[in-house]
Amino acid sequence: MITVAVGHGQTSYPVLIGDLAQALDHISALSDGQPLPLITDPRVLALHGGKLTPIALQPPILVTQGEAAKTWQSLASIVDGLAERNVRRGAPIVALGGGSVGDVAGLAASLFKRGCPIVHIPTTLLAQADSAIGGKTAIDSAGQKNLAGTFHMPALVVVDPDLLDTLDPRQLRSGYAEVVKYGLIDDPAFFAWCEAHGAALLAGDRDARRHAVGHCIRAKATMVAADALDVGGQRALLNLGHSFGHGIEAAAGIGRLLHGEAVAVGLVLAFRLSALLGHCDPADGQRVAEHLDRVRLPTRLDHVGLAGTGEALLALMMADKKATTNGPALVLVRAIGAAFLERAVPRQALSAFVRAL
Ligand SMILES: NC(=O)c1ccc[n+]([C@@H]2O[C@H](COP(=O)([O-])OP(=O)(O)OC[C@H]3O[C@@H](n4cnc5c(N)ncnc54)[C@H](O)[C@@H]3O)[C@@H](O)[C@H]2O)c1
Ligand SMILES: [Zn+2]
Repeated sequence: MITVAVGHGQTSYPVLIGDLAQALDHISALSDGQPLPLITDPRVLALHGGKLTPIALQPPILVTQGEAAKTWQSLASIVDGLAERNVRRGAPIVALGGGSVGDVAGLAASLFKRGCPIVHIPTTLLAQADSAIGGKTAIDSAGQKNLAGTFHMPALVVVDPDLLDTLDPRQLRSGYAEVVKYGLIDDPAFFAWCEAHGAALLAGDRDARRHAVGHCIRAKATMVAADALDVGGQRALLNLGHSFGHGIEAAAGIGRLLHGEAVAVGLVLAFRLSALLGHCDPADGQRVAEHLDRVRLPTRLDHVGLAGTGEALLALMMADKKATTNGPALVLVRAIGAAFLERAVPRQALSAFVRAL
């Protein structure tokens, strides 16, 4: 079992990477051996729920699979489910599943009786490499991604890359878009590793998967430690591809595209806009698109059925949480591995770029 500490403020929490069975004692120690309330979805419950039987309170609280879990309705059903199980104030809650389960369960944990510790056991590549680390929680509302949420740092995260054996290829590819993102932000050597090993990772190579998951967790831990509450600019770099990506998810109709698919298109658009604004060599964007194309991730709006929807996309981007009155804050790039935060992208340049897509 490898431990990575994620610092925030004066404190930190451990991310344990290894066999879930060997982490059960660490989890149940948080509740002094009492059974822990479990939040998951039906598919993950069927595939992996049994691994938590020794420590979980029965029955588990179930949310709908996928992005549909991130609604007010499912948030309310979790809070009610915790109340029905007489979960006491401050009792740790376990979230087993992908980023959607983690986001809504984390939000419920931050609200229930004014806050209970959450233990994340991520089961998708996206959640293991990214969403389970860092304490952002959210649900979607008013047709917008992640409109309501909190910061709620986990008490513990347990990452068992072997849980990914059961993940379908489309979900694995979606998570891989976030993996590639880490190389593009500040780690060109890792992007080169992705070019060399990404296809093997997606074909089921366990060593490649372990390497990528561990690498991304360490990278995210460093960025979160520098800027836990996402105010200083460092953590914002994790949003590379996401202002476009969230707009694309919303424009497609929330839940139709997978998050990582929208992010893949968003990453390429961030490089293309950076080139247009003179920050970056267009060849870098082409190299990124070539790699994502090779692993069969979408790289253009027409790949996701959104050709000619630039106007709607622009409106969604202007409504994004990160938009200021001068224009949206966007993560742009100077090169592969050299992302930076542009706090107010010139509105006209952005409009012209997006409308022409
Ligand atoms: N909080 C954050 O910092 C953060 C970061 C990135 C993304 N996100 C959010 O994460 C969400 C996407 O999460 P996701 O990509 O993990 O998908 P998901 O949670 O929506 O799950 C996708 C599907 O995979 C299934 N599944 C999960 N684990 C499985 C396994 N091991 N085997 C077989 N099937 C399995 C689920 O049942 C579900 O049907 C988005 O809402 C996104 O906004 C949050
Ligand atoms: Zn993301």
